[in-house]
Amino acid sequence: MSRSDLTTEEEITTLVHRFYERVRADPVLGPVFDAHIHDWDTHLAIMVRFWSSLFLGSGTYSGTPMPKHIALPDLNAEMFRHWLALFHETTNELSNRAFAEEAEKFAHRIARSLWYGYQINNHPNRLPTELHHG
Ligand code: HEM
Repeated sequence: MSRSDLTTEEEITTLVHRFYERVRADPVLGPVFDAHIHDWDTHLAIMVRFWSSLFLGSGTYSGTPMPKHIALPDLNAEMFRHWLALFHETTNELSNRAFAEEAEKFAHRIARSLWYGYQINNHPNRLPTELHHG
């Protein structure tokens, strides 16, 4: 489904760049990303394609986020909640409130699904927990 009436590639690019500026400056998440991302320009371009595929139906993203996150060592629920908190701070600054709300919803869904997948793959002998974000 195309949502091209909701936002633009420019707005998505702004959101992605501002969000990862926060992430990189963050004492908890910054080091995790910096340990795995060697070329930030490439990562930002991938993330713009990811969000553009979701929101503009651009079909420009063809990666597999789940195995990439499953492979990251020592992620926990707190980190996912923190990721969402930084994302929320970033969408809060957007004047396009309709897009901000939809982006928030998607981020929560994907974060929950990544966290479930992470737990089921990395801790198969424990019951998966919810994120319980506020
Ligand atoms: C604790 C939370 C998270 C951490 C620490 C994290 C970290 C990372 C890292 C280090 C990469 C690069 C992996 C690589 O290239 O090998 C990555 C890629 C990615 N992340 Fe996350 N992430 C988190 C949550 C999320 C969430 C909630 C989303 C969804 C909105 C997301 C979407 C993506 C996507 C689409 C990629 C690109 C995968 C690809 O290369 O195709 N991440 N993440």
